[in-house]
Amino acid sequence: MSNEWWRTATIYQVYVRSFADANGDGIGDLPGVRSKLDYLADLGVDAVWLTPFYTSPMADGGYDVADYRAVDPLFGDLADAEALIADAHARGLRVIVDVVPNHTSSQHPWFAEALAAAPGSAARDRYLFRDGRDGGPPNDWESVFGGPAWTQVPDGQWYLHLFDPAQPDLNWRNSEVRAEFADILRFWLDRGVDGFRIDVAHGMVKADGLPDAECTEQASLLTTRSLPYFDQDGVHEIYREWRKILDSYPGERIGVAEAWVPTAERLARYLRPDELHQAFNFHYVEAEWSAPVFRRVIDESLDAVAGLAAPSTWVLSNHDVHRHVTRYGGGEQGLRRARAAALLTLALPGSAYVYQGEELGLPEVTDLPDEVLADPVWERSGHTDRGRDGCRVPLPWSGSEPPFGFGGSSWLPQPADWAALTAEAQHDDPESTLSLYREALRQRRALPSEGITWDEAPDGVLAFRRGESFTCTVNFTSSPVTMPRPGTVRLASCPDSELGLGADTVTLPAESAVWWSGDVDG
Ligand code: NOJ
Ligand code: CA
Repeated sequence: MSNEWWRTATIYQVYVRSFADANGDGIGDLPGVRSKLDYLADLGVDAVWLTPFYTSPMADGGYDVADYRAVDPLFGDLADAEALIADAHARGLRVIVDVVPNHTSSQHPWFAEALAAAPGSAARDRYLFRDGRDGGPPNDWESVFGGPAWTQVPDGQWYLHLFDPAQPDLNWRNSEVRAEFADILRFWLDRGVDGFRIDVAHGMVKADGLPDAECTEQASLLTTRSLPYFDQDGVHEIYREWRKILDSYPGERIGVAEAWVPTAERLARYLRPDELHQAFNFHYVEAEWSAPVFRRVIDESLDAVAGLAAPSTWVLSNHDVHRHVTRYGGGEQGLRRARAAALLTLALPGSAYVYQGEELGLPEVTDLPDEVLADPVWERSGHTDRGRDGCRVPLPWSGSEPPFGFGGSSWLPQPADWAALTAEAQHDDPESTLSLYREALRQRRALPSEGITWDEAPDGVLAFRRGESFTCTVNFTSSPVTMPRPGTVRLASCPDSELGLGADTVTLPAESAVWWSGDVDG
């Protein structure tokens, strides 16, 4: 396996509960992931990121961990995790696992101990317990899932939970907490994992004295302004310690920050040479479908890492946001744009993430019945926000009716019209989204290593080169646009028959991207 693999890697996100269900209980599991490794190798990704599969009461889909060193029986056992890592490695696939250090589950033994202990005790000091203010919570902080970020316990103290009350925040100024997580990292590194995706990497350290945020609707401000509980400078000391642990293992083990911060410059701080290898690019996720917006975000993302050793990352979807087919307008138009976005994304220098199902062109499921909704956001928002279940619907693998080869009947119902979107239905269709991703990932391995240079292009079109031999064009507009022809078509997001190729010009169909090689063929 090559050195510094993570600089250009395509990393496939597996949301374990919804990927593949091997034992037929309706919930995806580790043996299910194992059974699909050939699919992932054939798709052409370099690494797999597994969302949490640790022991959990599943108050937040496993982001509420009760035992960091054990596999939840829903997902299998430790032997399954070890077998999965070994089988992935045998196919040349790296494995990244989630670590959830900002909070534990309220069913973690430490929290049970803290509840049973007195205010001011060592057991309470592992979390953030405080006395209230004027009969209410200690400050004005809000939970990202809605409502106050504090819950009161019977003796009158309050504990902080930036997410659900079942996810109490740890106190990262406590040395026992730091030592415990260093040990958890080693536990999984010893089992061969190639890295960690760090949940809420911007959250572990809170401002001294826990000052008020002095604003409301705080969750909506995550990427626009600073808050006293996010992106505090103290978090970087933790990553410097973790980097030493990662570097003490052979074979380029990496840390990836899930950091929601206000600017690309703040994000770059997580990527200093003695900290983490990558950070998710949420500004790219949030970009609306428009040429100038994408161009600005791409430039800012590349500028932010320009002076650093770290690569930029490119993310279109994950398990927390609406799938991009739907964000870009849904239906046929959303799919056309999503396919164009895929070619744009996979043409950029750095590391790209693919969220399970985007290679099938899956849309968000927006009409899940109320009674199946499992995301705590639904309850915490007083049933005003339907939450994130619509992007977590189990994958359609094969067959003509639900559960489409997923396993037992799926824990969230799949739409009947996903029959046309199964991996099986798309596998041999050269015009399918699955074939587009497979071919793009194959060609991506041989793209020039140079960065991008923008070419002049008509309004609404982006065109950039990498080296002399590769050009990518994207027509964001909803009309065909004619421009000088950049070379020979290597791959297009639209059917080839739609491309208006002249001797020296090309008419790019609406909402399409094309990869070109250097020379115009006769
Ligand atoms: C980010 C995770 O991606 C999300 O799913 C989770 O709810 C929060 N962190 C809290 O752990
Ligand atoms: Ca299962």
